[in-house]
Amino acid sequence: MFKIGIITASDKGSRGDREDISGKVIADMTAPVGRVEKYVIVADEKDALQAAMLQMADELKLDLILTTGGTGLGLRDVTPEATLAVIDRQVPGIAEAMRAASMLKTNRAMLSRAVAGTRGRTLIINLPGSPKGVQECLEVVLPALEHGLAILKGEASECAR
Ligand code: MTE
Repeated sequence: MFKIGIITASDKGSRGDREDISGKVIADMTAPVGRVEKYVIVADEKDALQAAMLQMADELKLDLILTTGGTGLGLRDVTPEATLAVIDRQVPGIAEAMRAASMLKTNRAMLSRAVAGTRGRTLIINLPGSPKGVQECLEVVLPALEHGLAILKGEASECAR
């Protein structure tokens, strides 16, 4: 079981003005593979998002951080920038796969600037903000995550296929 952190980036959610359905979708969909150890709703502020990611990666040593929201073109959408500021290496294929699969469902998928990458042994993945977007993107990445996280944790050394 992987140790998972969820960060919902939402101005409204952080003020309590909007129920966070997307965070719950992440928790439900990841339940078979991991345990949610930390879940926060953060305003769309780069510093606050970075701080949440750093705590989850460096202090709590979580295996996987899934963010939702703040990936679009709104001027307050800064989740990718916060993520890029904390990761050591990008994993472009994860974001490419999510966008490619999502484009088959909606051409608005191209509007998500989501990124993914690693900080130490923690994998961070941005998901879009809508519950539907979260579900569609997690369906794409979850099947490959177990192997990727095992390699990142040093528990698997090679690809067997
Ligand atoms: N990806 C999937 N799979 N399904 C969706 O419904 N919505 C898109 C896109 N990615 C969507 C999706 C839309 S409408 C936007 S504006 C962008 O994600 C950015 O969303 P965000 O700013 O809430 O992160």
